[in-house]
Amino acid sequence: MPEPDIAALALAGLRARPKTLPPLLFYDDAGCALFYRITELPEYYLTRTELGLLPRVARETAALLAPPAALVEYGASDEAKAGYLLNQSRAGAGLFAAYVPIDIAAPALGAMAARVRSRWPGLTVSPIVADFLTPPRLPPGLDGMARLGFFPGSTIGNLDPPAARRFLAGARTALGPGARLLVGVDLAKNPAILLPAYDDAAGVTAAFNRNLLVRLNREAGADFDPAGFDHRALWNAAEGRIEMHLVSRRAQQVRVAGSLIAFAAGESIHTENSYKHTLPGFAALARAGGWATARVWTDPAQLFSLHLLSA
Ligand code: AVI
Repeated sequence: MPEPDIAALALAGLRARPKTLPPLLFYDDAGCALFYRITELPEYYLTRTELGLLPRVARETAALLAPPAALVEYGASDEAKAGYLLNQSRAGAGLFAAYVPIDIAAPALGAMAARVRSRWPGLTVSPIVADFLTPPRLPPGLDGMARLGFFPGSTIGNLDPPAARRFLAGARTALGPGARLLVGVDLAKNPAILLPAYDDAAGVTAAFNRNLLVRLNREAGADFDPAGFDHRALWNAAEGRIEMHLVSRRAQQVRVAGSLIAFAAGESIHTENSYKHTLPGFAALARAGGWATARVWTDPAQLFSLHLLSA
């Protein structure tokens, strides 16, 4: 998998109107560590709510699968969530015979695969280094197995609806007839709950957002002053999404890979969208991607949901 050309990606976004930066640039080592801290923040309800649902969801999903089964995880950064599924057994033996974690971050994926092999010794682990947005062909050997795709964390919310539909359709093709797909989806709710989750009191999300600029300074010959940009999270009700921006505190010029980029005071770089779905809205999106909704689980406060789709 070729390394993305960071400078070219950054310049394309910074020359666009309005200015943008692609969210895939968030996840260098520092960005991954900051994201991990976000998942533990009191305001960021997503991860702990999904983890609270997973023991039951894993049990009830496993009951629908006949062994041997294969688990294919899209955007697999660690095994914390997949572990609930991999622990499922039938008649004393593991339900899953194969695990295919797919992620773009090769070092983290390799380390995770090694941990999974030692914790579930009977499991065939076949990591694939790839952008899960263009779901790659699966390794041979899964043909006779019940296939379960897994896309937790509401990462699907970082895709706009056409891209989410393309992802769902691609996963359906890759997983094949008879497959199922379990997707974690954050739900639309009161902005008074949503906004602090993306603008926490400790400033971890602000550091995660500004880390984009730190990364461009290091990897794209840029000279951003990260403190010259404010972190801003806003709820775009018309689009049903949280947006993150970096807003220039003053008129300034920044050099990026030899080019000068001018910012007006108050001008923003749009860095991320995080779509929040309704239950019927996500069912319609799944249908457009070729899936039927078999089951939905939510927490009592309806903060978060897991959707089991069938092909
Ligand atoms: C990875 N993704 C689901 C996170 C989200 O909630 O959209 C990324 C994130 N951005 C800011 N905080 C967390």
